[in-house]
Amino acid sequence: MKWDPSKYAEFADYRSRPFFDLTGRIAAEEPRRVVDLGCGPGSLTAALVDRWPRARVTGLDSSAAMIAAASAASRPQNLDFEVGDIAAWTPPEDLDVLVSNAALQWLPGHQDLLRAWASALGSGAWLAFQVPGNFSAPSHVLMRRQAASSRWHSRLDGVLRHEDAVSEPADYLALLLEAGFDADAWETTYLHVLQGSDPVLEWVRGTGLRPVLAALEPQEASEFEREYAEALRHAYPAGPHGTVFPFRRIFCVARKR
Ligand SMILES: C[S@@+](CC[C@H](N)C(=O)[O-])C[C@H]1O[C@@H](n2cnc3c(N)ncnc32)[C@H](O)[C@@H]1O
Repeated sequence: MKWDPSKYAEFADYRSRPFFDLTGRIAAEEPRRVVDLGCGPGSLTAALVDRWPRARVTGLDSSAAMIAAASAASRPQNLDFEVGDIAAWTPPEDLDVLVSNAALQWLPGHQDLLRAWASALGSGAWLAFQVPGNFSAPSHVLMRRQAASSRWHSRLDGVLRHEDAVSEPADYLALLLEAGFDADAWETTYLHVLQGSDPVLEWVRGTGLRPVLAALEPQEASEFEREYAEALRHAYPAGPHGTVFPFRRIFCVARKR
């Protein structure tokens, strides 16, 4: 599945706020090494260098297009980017801060990765991640319902995951505590006020709708989007000040005991 850095950069302000709400809870002072897993186009990874100018900071992403966009921007010497799969990544020995913002939901079984990282991290190291908690929101329910309909079932069977995409905050908290961390887990529902026509469709095109678009021929994808946009307009009606799009997110920040 291909990622499009320019598409993802739309709504940058709304998409970046959870990153700062997440990393604001990391109390590390002088980390030696910081890694951002699923770093996307890298602008938020660069903010980690602003926060810890003496750390070596690495962004890792499986999308070559994202890493090309990240590497093209001018950057300080202590910031680098690499193409890689989170599932195959292991923490370097001097890692003091591990961040992953809005990426682990793409990895089935990432809970096992969290346990593996926990045993590899040294005492005092920080692990902070954020995942969307909106798989039961109308935007996802409508997408799955349409994908399962008689028109689309044969083309889209198995393309959209749901139940196992993310855990609930209490489950992450239990996992982290059992894995040897002091941990903080919480959730926030942001009320984004989006502008323009079909803004919720525009939003999901950059993320949740990508597996559907990747599975269909261009003409089919347009047909799917037309039908889906119609349903979204009813679920998220435009108001006098824009379209309100509630977005629940789950956060965990933990420190190895
Ligand atoms: C929603 S974007 C988040 C980007 C960035 N962290 C941010 O907050 O803006 C998800 C990113 O995760 C990356 N990703 C998804 N699965 C991955 C995997 N298995 N290994 C590495 N990166 C992955 C995608 O390429 C994409 O750039």
